[in-house]
Amino acid sequence: MSISAVKGFRDALPEAARLLGRVETAALDVLARYGFDEIRLPIVEKTELFARAIGETTDIVEKEMYTFPDRDGTLLTLRPEGTASLVRAYVEHHLDQRDPVGRFSYVGPMFRHERPQKGRHRQFYQVGAELIGREDPLADAELLVALWDVLAEVGITGASLLLNSLGDAQCRPAYRDELRAFGESRREQLCENCKRRLDKNPLRILDCKEPGCRAATEDAPRLVDHLCAPCATHFARVRELLDAEGVAYTLDSRLVRGLDYYVRTTFEVLGPGLGAQSAIGAGGRYDGLVAQIGGPQVSGIGFAFGVDRLVLALQASRPEVEAEVASELAPELFIAPLGAAAESAALGVARRLRQAGLRVELDGGRSLKSLMRRADKLKARHVMILGEEELAQRRATMRDMEAKQDRKLAVDIDLTGDELLAAVGARRSA
Ligand code: HAM
Repeated sequence: MSISAVKGFRDALPEAARLLGRVETAALDVLARYGFDEIRLPIVEKTELFARAIGETTDIVEKEMYTFPDRDGTLLTLRPEGTASLVRAYVEHHLDQRDPVGRFSYVGPMFRHERPQKGRHRQFYQVGAELIGREDPLADAELLVALWDVLAEVGITGASLLLNSLGDAQCRPAYRDELRAFGESRREQLCENCKRRLDKNPLRILDCKEPGCRAATEDAPRLVDHLCAPCATHFARVRELLDAEGVAYTLDSRLVRGLDYYVRTTFEVLGPGLGAQSAIGAGGRYDGLVAQIGGPQVSGIGFAFGVDRLVLALQASRPEVEAEVASELAPELFIAPLGAAAESAALGVARRLRQAGLRVELDGGRSLKSLMRRADKLKARHVMILGEEELAQRRATMRDMEAKQDRKLAVDIDLTGDELLAAVGARRSA
């Protein structure tokens, strides 16, 4: 019996892998222009890092982590997100001493044991950006502008930005108490999960999807109305900067996020084509996190996009992307050598063209008819037929597969790659 992949863990076949790569490259390119340089972080960390950073009572830490003992018994976890690892690396390498302001991007797989559905997987990919060492609202606004530019570069239209402020250690505790008291007064209307949350993490009752809980919390007190003066000023300035730059957003006082490290500005991006899992990215400020992981008291803010969800949103925004990717995967040139001598020559010709940047497919050991059938199936744009006669005359037959036209081409098989490229008249692939 054959063995299948583990539930929630998917293969990305070449077309899907190309789409993921395209989205990741576009995002990293934009982020690099904003000064965020890529950092590579391990996939496995000590479990205590996530427990401390994300929070013991969050869904992620309570139920979604892939945790296992190492051979010496140390508890390890497959990272469920990137921020905790990045902050751990920042502290471990004293990056604040290299530069008081650090801008980092990252991309890679994350792991959460969630119920798989469209846009939700147990291994998924994130591309993220973290800005550490800036507490001023300009940093928040710049990060959100960068996030918006990533969406534009990827090619996503129709996304929307939800914005909230979660306050800080000054103002949130009093609000939390008030919300808990409010929740207690409606306890009977809440789902079992929210009843539990009420004690440990009352803010989470605000983003419960159960209709009963939504109705019960309809007129719950709003955190934005309880911000202390510094938090309120900060949030007002962030909004002012976004307004000035024309970045549209919707204030959402229910946006509380599922990770405990957030303070002040928090946000989520909803994208098209996703159904229930419509958050294509999210993030916020985490001013206490670096110190909590044992580093200096510095501020931080960041976001992460779900790459798989960006791909779904891109497909919804630009359906033609599928055809583009298929055409990128097709060879520019298919070389069909006939006979041993032609095959020897073709191997070198193909190699030099590839070195010059062309996407070339070489096949042999079969009849012209069968080779042409294969070139057709691969949707090759041009075919170079190298038969014995062609070889003797140092000419090849070039067939334009779209125009269905043949032309004789002088191909000195000793030409350099660039000369061959010019002779073939094909485009260099991207
Ligand atoms: P998050 O909201 O947990 O935040 O995840 C960010 C994004 O990752 C989500 O908006 C979603 O697109 C994607 N994502 C999450 N879970 C899954 C899943 N099971 N399958 C597919 N995609 C998923 C964070 O992870 C924070 N570290 C973001 C951040 C960076 N905050 C500050 N800096």
